[in-house]
Amino acid sequence: MSNNTTKPINLQTGWPSARLCASAAILDGAQQVLTSEVEAGPAMLYGPRIGHTPLRKSLATWLSTFYAQSMAGNPTTKDRIAISNGASGNLANILQKFADPLYTRAIFLAEPTYFLACPIMEDNGFRGKLRGVPEGGPEHGGLDLGFLRQRLQETEAKAVRTAADSSRADAPVLKTGPSYPKVFKYIIYVVPTFANPSGKTMAERTRRELVRIAREFDALVISDDVYDYLRWPADPTGDGHDGTTMASPPLPPPPSRLVDIDRGMDGYDEKWGNTLSNGSFSKIIGPGVRVGWADCAPGLAFELGEVGSSSSGGGPAHLSSTFVDKMLRSGALDTHIQTVLIPTYRRRYHIMMGCIAQLLVPLGVKVDSSISEKEAGIALGGGFFLYLRLPDDVPHARTVASVALREHGLRIAFGHLFVVAGDEGSTARAEGPGGIARCFRLCWAWHEEEELREGVHRLADTLASIRERIARGEAIRDEALGVR
Ligand SMILES: Cc1ncc(COP(=O)(O)O)c(C=O)c1O
Repeated sequence: MSNNTTKPINLQTGWPSARLCASAAILDGAQQVLTSEVEAGPAMLYGPRIGHTPLRKSLATWLSTFYAQSMAGNPTTKDRIAISNGASGNLANILQKFADPLYTRAIFLAEPTYFLACPIMEDNGFRGKLRGVPEGGPEHGGLDLGFLRQRLQETEAKAVRTAADSSRADAPVLKTGPSYPKVFKYIIYVVPTFANPSGKTMAERTRRELVRIAREFDALVISDDVYDYLRWPADPTGDGHDGTTMASPPLPPPPSRLVDIDRGMDGYDEKWGNTLSNGSFSKIIGPGVRVGWADCAPGLAFELGEVGSSSSGGGPAHLSSTFVDKMLRSGALDTHIQTVLIPTYRRRYHIMMGCIAQLLVPLGVKVDSSISEKEAGIALGGGFFLYLRLPDDVPHARTVASVALREHGLRIAFGHLFVVAGDEGSTARAEGPGGIARCFRLCWAWHEEEELREGVHRLADTLASIRERIARGEAIRDEALGVR
């Protein structure tokens, strides 16, 4: 039993502990840039709209090294890279440039979804046009493509009928003219590797089929590839659950990004493609750095630099881009990932899994994700999150989260948060049998090891107290909880 409930513990927040951010390496990069007579001036002025050229080059090299296997001798290049101010800002820019809320029929999101993507989409005119696609069971490999295909067919048939009935062209309405040379009929949003929130990694076969579907329906797949670089063996053998021994077998290559599958498959649209990798340094340097990138077909990359805000303001993360470029070139980023982030997260992951096995599994809780990439021959842990499922005899995770916060000072992210905003079907599925309303997400990135242990203890206490109340026939209060 845990007695220390005075200090709040937040296993919801998906932020890295501040001490894990690469502050020293950023300072070093800043020093190099700002003390250079040649570089300091341009760094302090407006930057190129598509992004700082040296970073576009160093990033292309860095990505081509990390994803060498799936790029199969065809490295990505500077002309495919547009710098962003992070994956969130880039999502907004992509929708501004390549989607028309009166023509683009719908945005499909993997469900459970990264819920903070929904308001970005709604801000861009898509309120009421967001649709969930269940990740599905193991047989679906991370996304139920049968479901997606059927919804695409229905939506498309309806759009074509509506246009014909009103005798107007089935064409963009708001995004017309030379500023909008490519508008997609559909957007599909996924986090295929160590997903937020489910922690799942999409199978290679599912990735390939998703690219085929995107081509068939004139869809752009936006793939948030933000957790790919944080990966370690899921098997605690040799680590112990206390994570003391960190010997590691060689890991399999990272899964292919959708963008590389698209590029490597016959029939690739060389100018626009149907996929965009939405990358970010938030999880590997620190979210405050506000630098990310798109890796996509050159037409898309160029046009991303042409959004109105970049025409006026230049590249959206110019000064910090110059610092990040130095980190990539010196190898400081790789060193930080390998020597600080992975060992720390790996240890925290095993500690959490150990506590869960000891305290929550006996209460009927199941780990729903965590073991990923089995198809690659070795099970991996990675990213930031564990996703768990409550047994059927306790209330929805939202109620459990409310009791945990009110009575045990513990915040967890509950299934209702991950429903696709405005999609009634998504809510109904969440609350139906096997739905995500019984799931919750725990993050190991924010708190230190002792707090993670304490957090799992508090969760076990919460569940035990809920069970006792149920046995006594008491009602359990379910308060609305905030999102952050
Ligand atoms: C899937 C996913 N996309 C995007 C973001 C936000 O990225 P950024 O800080 O680059 O805007 C997060 C952060 O939690 C995330 O989990």
